[in-house]
Amino acid sequence: MKLTSKSVALIPIIATVATAAIGATLIAPPAANAATTLGAAAQQSGRYFGTAVAANKLGDSTYAGILNREFDMVTAENEMKMDATEPNQGQFSYGNADRIVNQARNQGKRVRGHALAWHSQQPGWMQNMSGSALRNAMLNHVTQVATYYRGKIYAWDVVNEAFADGSGGGRRDSNLQRTGNDWIEVAFRAARAADPNAKLCYNDYNTDDWSHAKTQGVYRMVQDFKSRGVPIDCVGFQSHFNNNSPVPSNYQTTLQNFANLGVDVQITELDIEGSGSTQAQRYQTVTRACLAVSRCTGITVWGIRDSDSWRASGTPLLFDNSGNKKAAYNSTLDALNAGGGTDPTTTTTTTTTTTSNDPVPGACSASVSLNQWNEGFVATIKVTAGSSALRGWKVTTTLSNGTVTGSWSATRSGNSGTVTWSNVDYNANVPAGGSTEFGFQGSGSGAGLNPACTAS
Ligand code: XIL
Repeated sequence: MKLTSKSVALIPIIATVATAAIGATLIAPPAANAATTLGAAAQQSGRYFGTAVAANKLGDSTYAGILNREFDMVTAENEMKMDATEPNQGQFSYGNADRIVNQARNQGKRVRGHALAWHSQQPGWMQNMSGSALRNAMLNHVTQVATYYRGKIYAWDVVNEAFADGSGGGRRDSNLQRTGNDWIEVAFRAARAADPNAKLCYNDYNTDDWSHAKTQGVYRMVQDFKSRGVPIDCVGFQSHFNNNSPVPSNYQTTLQNFANLGVDVQITELDIEGSGSTQAQRYQTVTRACLAVSRCTGITVWGIRDSDSWRASGTPLLFDNSGNKKAAYNSTLDALNAGGGTDPTTTTTTTTTTTSNDPVPGACSASVSLNQWNEGFVATIKVTAGSSALRGWKVTTTLSNGTVTGSWSATRSGNSGTVTWSNVDYNANVPAGGSTEFGFQGSGSGAGLNPACTAS
């Protein structure tokens, strides 16, 4: 234990009340007014502290007691996955997920949604699908589930684990990936259309070490999405650690570099195998890394007691099998109470406003990029200003054999036949020669859209 002059000075004062905690912690033990639960301690800096919850354990009073006392964010461990929510194609089943969501909301907790699209835990019917039928089924799933829970989800893991391990930094092969590389962005657009107020996250594991090819691959995708206006708000780091996959020394750097792209970062499935002070120290390192990054908005551990863990033999959680607090609990709570980090709720962001000296609205043009499959399509329309800046624009499209089911980044009038679109506040101003994009998804055919732009 490395003692700072501050911690040395504090120890005699708190020795009688916190003796047990001292051996396991690296930071000064909590002051008298420190928060006594993980959720309350995280809230002091505007963050949350959550856990994965299993619906079939809610009746266990020890489990429910710790859940209600300690955590202010909840993730369904399995109940919102594709196999659970759409066991037969087109037949949705929300019973177990609802039990978790309702319990959380009744207790004033928020919910992270996990996960809309993933190569794993797919229902049997989907595992055997491919091509446009699968693309359509995936988009329908995203739309239906996100619509059902609209307004109740703080953040959705829209896409989970889409990158490959190893040195290439590319996508993981899967039936979803084989429907085309744009499956991820199309899923994000569908999720935004279904629940505009949920934060939309990409979530993965083995993306904690900044030097890993997989981390770099995800980083480039998020950078690309931000530059093209694909709606992404956050990146989740599962952070399942053990001796083979330890907390990397550059973990905070990784979180910060992603945050610098203009997204929130969250630690979404934390568990660290081990015991005693070694484990306690590692939990503290992770907690402090999040606190040091202003856009790291919260931490979720992947279960409550060690016996609840998907890898129970590694005793990776904060409570032992009987529900007692472990050293790792104390070190995590102390780190949250020590704060020293930045508050995500008071972060100031710099907004760049494009202004034009040209008072005369100019001409504009529109082009379409269409992704059509058997039963539906996604259209992205690019609006380009002419030699003068635009201060507002209108686009007309023709949908002879299709119907719009969702749209983003424009205000719409009509949903089939002649559909007109106009700018929203943030994309009204387009500099001379510059462009902006909006899009929509629909059923039927998107052929013959023939977009025409006028300045307004
Ligand atoms: C795990 C659950 O904890 C287990 O109960 C289930 O059998 C398999 O899935 N990455 C994820 C989580 O995104 O959904 C996984 O959860 C753990 C790895």
